[in-house]
Amino acid sequence: MKIGIIGTGYVGMVTAVGLAELGHNVTGTDIVPEKIDKANQGIAPIYEPGLEELLKKHLKAGNLTFSHDLDCTISSTDVLFVSVNTPQQEDGSADMSFVESVSRRIAENLNNYKLIVEKSTVPVKTSSWIKRIICLYKKQDYEFDVASNPEFLREGSAVKDFLEPERIIIGVETDKARDILTKIYKKFQDRILVTNIDTAELIKHASNSFLAMKISFINLISDLCEKTDADVELVAKGMGLDTRIGKQFLKAGIGYGGSCFPKDVRALVKIGEDLGVDLNLLKEVDKVNISRVKKFVDKVKKALWILKGKKIAVLGLAFKPETDDIRNAPSISVIHTLQSEGAQLFLYDPKAMDNMKRVVPESDKVVYAESPYEAVKDTNALLIITEWDEFRCLDLKKIKELMANPILIDGRNIYAPEEVRKLGFEYYSIGR
Ligand code: UDX
Ligand code: UDX
Repeated sequence: MKIGIIGTGYVGMVTAVGLAELGHNVTGTDIVPEKIDKANQGIAPIYEPGLEELLKKHLKAGNLTFSHDLDCTISSTDVLFVSVNTPQQEDGSADMSFVESVSRRIAENLNNYKLIVEKSTVPVKTSSWIKRIICLYKKQDYEFDVASNPEFLREGSAVKDFLEPERIIIGVETDKARDILTKIYKKFQDRILVTNIDTAELIKHASNSFLAMKISFINLISDLCEKTDADVELVAKGMGLDTRIGKQFLKAGIGYGGSCFPKDVRALVKIGEDLGVDLNLLKEVDKVNISRVKKFVDKVKKALWILKGKKIAVLGLAFKPETDDIRNAPSISVIHTLQSEGAQLFLYDPKAMDNMKRVVPESDKVVYAESPYEAVKDTNALLIITEWDEFRCLDLKKIKELMANPILIDGRNIYAPEEVRKLGFEYYSIGR
């Protein structure tokens, strides 16, 4: 089977390389020419561990190519994965215009039976819209099917998540579509769940919203912990020993970011509204998450009082470790708040500085440092925003000597309070 991937961003690129690794013939296409040019040179447009090696391997093997030509990609493949972005709009709903325009192009190039697979996270009922658009605009009366195959990739481990999936969800409405997708994912046949399309689309939104809810739940508990002698890390540990709750996604901190959780929670609330179902619980999940930044900056103010003119180091800009992605990263709101208070900022991140420079340009008040040690020099406070491993093994003695004041405010609880205080730091963290 020849497979086309429309939209080679974080999800599309990993899907293209992953399907090639499963032995399929894959062509990726994207509206941004540079992404295609770079991919054909074996340069991944995004940082993901293991991605570039597999990209080079399959370019060399010849079963993976990238094309600028969307029409040609559509007409020359049998199965089309749509992984264009579905950005969040003002009212919280997902902007489906890219999905719609790609559906029209598929209709115009329908030259045989094709299976169109929704890979992007889309609102439930999207497949009916895709079907309607293709029926409306198809030039030749060929059969086609639409299916939903949502992705569960986590940035920083996306390649691993693709090649070692816990589940493959296939939402179909015909046996033909089911057979094609089960064949594509033959290697994972022991963990394929076949459902109808609405169910598959909802599994994705429900899963992300549930995970986001776990995070906002433990962050809410951390607020309680700060008013008592409880330690949120140990509360989470105690809770997680119950296998019904599970250990994961109970890390209290400065909140969740990324291109999925913030958008998917709001999109599901909007979907509920449109369908007349009030998903109030998820509105609270979003509110609790948004409140994390203000709570964190309040800690900075409690430590420094006036922020104007203060030198503050920020370690960690990506929305989580092991990625260069800063989409909806809490660091952006923290930086904007500190800037509005007149602080002078010294920023460092192992991977995300180039991306952040596009959002927070360098200036006399914003310096991007070459290392954590350079970032903290002569500063009045050090903020930890992303829990990169690199920060866990910093030489804190050296850090303390470099700083003007040894004030450390840890937004991801990466340090042990007693150890850090023994070194002479004034230490603040979350829920402890
Ligand atoms: C996107 C959605 O954001 C996510 O919610 C969904 O689950 C999967 O698709 P992601 O891959 O992270 O996730 O988005 P992005 O990195 O922005 O990639 C989308 C790609 O589609 C971009 O490279 C963009 O250039 C491309 N695109 C967009 C097209 O090729 N054609 C279009 O019409 C629009
Ligand atoms: C998420 C889902 O995990 C994945 O299944 C889906 O396909 C896409 O969205 P991703 O957004 O890449 O993946 O990262 P994830 O590891 O889930 O973390 C999301 C955010 O939650 C990050 O900002 C992270 O810092 C935060 N987080 C995660 C917490 O604050 N606490 C936790 O315990 C876990």
